[in-house]
Amino acid sequence: MKVVKAPVTFDIHSIMEGSDVAVSTKRYKDAKSFFAKEGDLDENTVMYDVYSYTKGDAKRGNLNWGLTVLHPLCVAGECNMTRGHWHEDRDCAEFYFGVSGKGLLMLMDEEGNTWAEEVSEGSLHHIDGHLAHRLINTGDEDMKVAACWGCDAGHDYAAVDAMPFGYRVMKEKGKLVFVRGEEE
Ligand SMILES: [Fe+2]
Repeated sequence: MKVVKAPVTFDIHSIMEGSDVAVSTKRYKDAKSFFAKEGDLDENTVMYDVYSYTKGDAKRGNLNWGLTVLHPLCVAGECNMTRGHWHEDRDCAEFYFGVSGKGLLMLMDEEGNTWAEEVSEGSLHHIDGHLAHRLINTGDEDMKVAACWGCDAGHDYAAVDAMPFGYRVMKEKGKLVFVRGEEE
Protein backbone atom coordinates (compact mmCIF):
# COMPACT_ATOMS: atom_id res chain seq x y z
CA MET A 1 0.00 0.00 0.00
CA LYS A 2 1.34 3.38 -0.97
CA VAL A 3 1.25 6.00 1.78
CA VAL A 4 1.71 9.66 0.88
CA LYS A 5 1.84 12.91 2.80
CA ALA A 6 -1.35 14.95 3.07
CA PRO A 7 -1.32 17.53 0.26
CA VAL A 8 -2.47 20.32 2.55
CA THR A 9 -1.81 21.00 6.21
CA PHE A 10 -3.98 23.08 8.48
CA ASP A 11 -1.93 24.17 11.48
CA ILE A 12 -4.53 25.53 13.87
CA HIS A 13 -1.85 27.70 15.43
CA SER A 14 -0.95 29.16 12.06
CA ILE A 15 -2.61 28.88 8.64
CA MET A 16 -3.37 26.42 5.84
CA GLU A 17 -0.50 25.56 3.57
CA GLY A 18 -0.08 23.42 0.48
CA SER A 19 0.35 23.66 -3.25
CA ASP A 20 -3.40 23.76 -3.91
CA VAL A 21 -4.20 26.43 -1.31
CA ALA A 22 -5.35 29.76 -2.73
CA VAL A 23 -5.23 32.97 -0.70
CA SER A 24 -7.44 36.00 -1.15
CA THR A 25 -6.54 39.17 0.77
CA LYS A 26 -9.10 41.88 1.50
CA ARG A 27 -7.59 45.31 2.06
CA TYR A 28 -9.28 48.35 3.57
CA LYS A 29 -9.65 50.10 0.21
CA ASP A 30 -11.78 47.16 -0.99
CA ALA A 31 -13.67 46.72 2.28
CA LYS A 32 -14.60 50.27 3.29
CA SER A 33 -18.04 50.02 1.70
CA PHE A 34 -18.99 47.33 4.26
CA PHE A 35 -18.81 49.87 7.07
CA ALA A 36 -21.20 52.67 8.02
CA LYS A 37 -18.50 55.34 8.14
CA GLU A 38 -15.03 55.81 6.78
CA GLY A 39 -12.19 55.15 9.20
CA ASP A 40 -8.62 56.34 9.38
CA LEU A 41 -6.95 53.10 8.31
CA ASP A 42 -4.35 53.13 5.57
CA GLU A 43 -5.89 52.07 2.26
CA ASN A 44 -3.63 49.01 2.09
CA THR A 45 -4.35 47.73 5.60
CA VAL A 46 -5.10 44.01 5.43
CA MET A 47 -8.55 43.44 6.93
CA TYR A 48 -8.74 39.68 6.39
CA ASP A 49 -7.31 36.77 4.44
CA VAL A 50 -9.28 33.82 3.12
CA TYR A 51 -7.40 30.58 2.44
CA SER A 52 -9.23 28.00 0.38
CA TYR A 53 -8.57 24.49 -0.78
CA THR A 54 -10.74 23.31 -3.63
CA LYS A 55 -10.72 19.74 -4.76
CA GLY A 56 -12.45 18.97 -8.01
CA ASP A 57 -14.69 21.00 -10.27
CA ALA A 58 -17.43 23.34 -9.09
CA LYS A 59 -20.05 20.67 -9.31
CA ARG A 60 -22.48 19.19 -6.81
CA GLY A 61 -20.82 16.76 -4.44
CA ASN A 62 -17.39 18.37 -4.37
CA LEU A 63 -16.24 20.32 -1.33
CA ASN A 64 -14.13 23.34 -0.40
CA TRP A 65 -12.22 23.79 2.83
CA GLY A 66 -11.37 27.30 3.92
CA LEU A 67 -9.86 29.40 6.67
CA THR A 68 -10.69 33.04 7.29
CA VAL A 69 -8.29 35.15 9.35
CA LEU A 70 -9.91 38.42 10.42
CA HIS A 71 -7.63 40.96 12.02
CA PRO A 72 -8.64 42.85 15.20
CA LEU A 73 -9.42 46.22 13.64
CA CYS A 74 -12.18 48.80 13.90
CA VAL A 75 -13.44 51.24 11.28
CA ALA A 76 -14.90 54.35 12.91
CA GLY A 77 -15.78 52.20 15.93
CA GLU A 78 -17.26 49.33 13.90
CA CYS A 79 -15.73 45.89 14.38
CA ASN A 80 -13.90 44.33 11.44
CA MET A 81 -16.06 41.94 9.44
CA THR A 82 -16.26 39.95 6.25
CA ARG A 83 -18.37 41.18 3.36
CA GLY A 84 -21.06 38.57 4.03
CA HIS A 85 -23.07 36.62 1.50
CA TRP A 86 -25.82 34.22 0.70
CA HIS A 87 -25.02 31.22 -1.42
CA GLU A 88 -26.14 31.50 -5.02
CA ASP A 89 -27.60 28.05 -4.53
CA ARG A 90 -29.74 28.50 -1.42
CA ASP A 91 -29.89 24.72 -1.02
CA CYS A 92 -26.17 24.61 -0.12
CA ALA A 93 -25.40 24.78 3.59
CA GLU A 94 -21.98 25.38 5.17
CA PHE A 95 -20.10 24.56 8.36
CA TYR A 96 -18.00 27.13 10.20
CA PHE A 97 -15.62 26.07 12.96
CA GLY A 98 -14.07 28.50 15.44
CA VAL A 99 -10.30 28.00 15.57
CA SER A 100 -9.07 30.92 17.66
CA GLY A 101 -9.94 34.41 18.73
CA LYS A 102 -13.51 35.45 19.37
CA GLY A 103 -16.30 37.10 17.56
CA LEU A 104 -19.72 36.65 16.06
CA LEU A 105 -21.27 34.80 13.18
CA MET A 106 -24.02 37.14 12.05
CA LEU A 107 -26.93 35.41 10.35
CA MET A 108 -29.88 36.87 8.43
CA ASP A 109 -32.91 35.13 6.99
CA GLU A 110 -34.61 36.11 3.76
CA GLU A 111 -37.00 38.44 5.61
CA GLY A 112 -34.09 40.42 7.06
CA ASN A 113 -34.33 39.02 10.61
CA THR A 114 -30.78 39.20 11.96
CA TRP A 115 -29.11 37.45 14.89
CA ALA A 116 -25.68 36.10 15.78
CA GLU A 117 -23.91 33.08 17.22
CA GLU A 118 -20.85 33.47 19.43
CA VAL A 119 -17.69 32.17 17.78
CA SER A 120 -14.73 30.98 19.83
CA GLU A 121 -12.20 28.16 19.83
CA GLY A 122 -14.07 24.93 19.18
CA SER A 123 -17.48 26.40 18.32
CA LEU A 124 -19.19 24.65 15.43
CA HIS A 125 -21.81 26.42 13.32
CA HIS A 126 -24.19 24.91 10.79
CA ILE A 127 -25.31 27.60 8.35
CA ASP A 128 -28.51 26.82 6.50
CA GLY A 129 -28.31 27.78 2.83
CA HIS A 130 -31.21 30.20 3.26
CA LEU A 131 -29.24 32.36 5.71
CA ALA A 132 -26.83 35.15 4.81
CA HIS A 133 -23.66 34.93 6.90
CA ARG A 134 -20.87 37.27 7.98
CA LEU A 135 -18.00 36.96 10.47
CA ILE A 136 -17.20 39.79 12.88
CA ASN A 137 -14.05 39.98 15.00
CA THR A 138 -15.04 41.46 18.35
CA GLY A 139 -11.82 40.51 20.15
CA ASP A 140 -8.30 41.83 20.46
CA GLU A 141 -6.52 39.13 18.46
CA ASP A 142 -6.86 37.47 15.09
CA MET A 143 -10.14 35.59 14.71
CA LYS A 144 -9.66 32.35 12.77
CA VAL A 145 -12.60 30.41 11.45
CA ALA A 146 -12.46 27.29 9.30
CA ALA A 147 -15.23 26.46 6.86
CA CYS A 148 -16.47 23.62 4.70
CA TRP A 149 -18.95 24.21 1.89
CA GLY A 150 -20.01 22.81 -1.44
CA CYS A 151 -18.00 23.71 -4.54
CA ASP A 152 -21.17 24.66 -6.38
CA ALA A 153 -22.63 26.88 -3.62
CA GLY A 154 -21.47 30.15 -5.16
CA HIS A 155 -21.47 33.57 -3.47
CA ASP A 156 -24.39 35.96 -3.79
CA TYR A 157 -23.10 39.33 -2.59
CA ALA A 158 -25.65 41.38 -4.53
CA ALA A 159 -28.53 40.16 -2.37
CA VAL A 160 -26.74 41.44 0.75
CA ASP A 161 -26.06 44.77 -0.95
CA ALA A 162 -29.80 44.96 -1.70
CA MET A 163 -30.83 43.94 1.84
CA PRO A 164 -28.02 44.64 4.33
CA PHE A 165 -27.71 42.80 7.65
CA GLY A 166 -30.03 44.24 10.27
CA TYR A 167 -27.35 45.23 12.81
CA ARG A 168 -23.91 46.77 12.97
CA VAL A 169 -21.48 45.72 15.72
CA MET A 170 -19.64 48.63 17.30
CA LYS A 171 -17.09 48.75 20.09
CA GLU A 172 -17.39 51.67 22.46
CA LYS A 173 -14.89 51.93 25.33
CA GLY A 174 -14.22 48.20 24.99
CA LYS A 175 -17.90 47.21 25.12
CA LEU A 176 -19.93 45.84 22.25
CA VAL A 177 -22.89 47.87 21.06
CA PHE A 178 -25.36 46.51 18.52
CA VAL A 179 -26.77 49.25 16.31
CA ARG A 180 -29.87 48.51 14.29
CA GLY A 181 -29.03 49.04 10.62
CA GLU A 182 -30.32 52.08 8.86
CA GLU A 183 -32.48 51.74 5.81
CA GLU A 184 -29.98 51.90 2.94
FE1 LIG B 1 -20.75 30.82 2.67
